Amino acid sequence: MHLIAYLKTGPTALHVGSWRHPEATLDDIFEPSRYEDIARLLEAARFDGCFYADLLGLYDTHGGSFATYVQGAGQISFLDPMTVLPLMARVTRHLGLGVTLSTTLIPAYYLARMLASLDRLSGGRVAWNMLTSSTDLEAQNFGLDNIPPRELRYDHADEVVEACCALWDGWQADAFVLDKAKGIFADPSKVKYQNYSGRWVKTRGPLSIPRSPQDRPILMQAGASERGRQFAARWAELVFTMQYRKSDLLTFTKDIKRRVAERGRDPADCRILAATSVVIGETESIARERAAYIDALPDPEMHLASSSSSLSVDLSKVVLDEKVVDASQGNQGVQGTRDRIDRIKEAEGMTFAQVVKRNTQSPPIVGTPAMIADRMQDFFESGACDGFVITPNVFPQMYEQFCRAVVPELQRRGVFRREYAGTTLRENLRNP
Ligand SMILES: Cc1cc2nc3c(=O)[nH]c(=O)nc-3n(C[C@H](O)[C@H](O)[C@H](O)COP(=O)(O)O)c2cc1C
Repeated sequence: MHLIAYLKTGPTALHVGSWRHPEATLDDIFEPSRYEDIARLLEAARFDGCFYADLLGLYDTHGGSFATYVQGAGQISFLDPMTVLPLMARVTRHLGLGVTLSTTLIPAYYLARMLASLDRLSGGRVAWNMLTSSTDLEAQNFGLDNIPPRELRYDHADEVVEACCALWDGWQADAFVLDKAKGIFADPSKVKYQNYSGRWVKTRGPLSIPRSPQDRPILMQAGASERGRQFAARWAELVFTMQYRKSDLLTFTKDIKRRVAERGRDPADCRILAATSVVIGETESIARERAAYIDALPDPEMHLASSSSSLSVDLSKVVLDEKVVDASQGNQGVQGTRDRIDRIKEAEGMTFAQVVKRNTQSPPIVGTPAMIADRMQDFFESGACDGFVITPNVFPQMYEQFCRAVVPELQRRGVFRREYAGTTLRENLRNP
């Protein structure tokens, strides 16, 4: 089983409102110790890695203003994740370090250069969440009026990833000679130009950064649309998904694995991780009480603002009817959220208007450590997923409890590693 921790450089990571919990830490958001401590904790528990979700801007979809997000601490990156990952690399030796970087808004050469630098510094532990970005607000921070249509974004993303892979291949592993007596630092015959030339992306190379110990960063992706799934099937070694029920997850996993096989790849090389949160208690009833307390923390307007952001439509203005949303969202909304809302409607017998005013994430697993391990083991062993992206509610308390109580339970059952098999992220993903 693989475990990745979902992180944000801010007080909120998906669960809006849990920052108000008495045990949530807020004063340390700009302290290196916040990032170092969580890295040490996750490594001690043998997590495969962590990743930072990100947005290149501040959500102002809801009510045409960022007021709800700023006041209620919606998901906001208060620091660029690329600045905290080196701090985390410094205090760990095995933990994978994932970062979300946009293929649409950041030039390919710069992506390849940043990722390769961090991959070298961390000894080959980097993962890239390849995101095409779906909001106009981000596009407008980068000189565009609108974000391009989805199909175009993914066609362009294919070229960006092709270009990056070519650049990462520019240096042979044994190019460094370091021979002072002969005056040969590195062998130029082991470095090559790429001259990548696509429809949109052109880059000559070579990259000035030598090959990573894991050859290139792990490629991960979380697209849910038809085109997003095609992209995942071609490139992704890790796929993150958020599904409402086990049956939805099984269907998704089967679909991605089939697509991966059709592209001639081994389905085992594309690991599907289900996003889930947990609420842990000494007894089931204590856990349920805690879950109810945590659920009551978000301001209801914050839930609606989050739905506005994920659907890319201002739900403060439109009649809360999905037909209006469908008409206004064009192709820019996040398909996964749209699908999940449909599943919640079916499962809970709710209307669209009711669903968007509540938490639209997959429900947390609530119970004792053994109950949580039972559920995770069942999902894993039935082939519904290859592991989990653990999304926090109360930070860092939930991770502390999970690492102290649930991980040892999974280890006792033999479904989760006790030691890392290698030092690079790719080695650890291949040998769980
Ligand atoms: C676990 C998880 C993490 C995600 N993290 C981010 C993120 O950091 N930033 C972002 O803009 N979108 C994020 N998304 C959204 C997806 O990356 C993707 O952009 C979205 O599903 C749209 O893809 P699609 O157009 O193929 O549906 C995340 C989705 C999931 C399930």
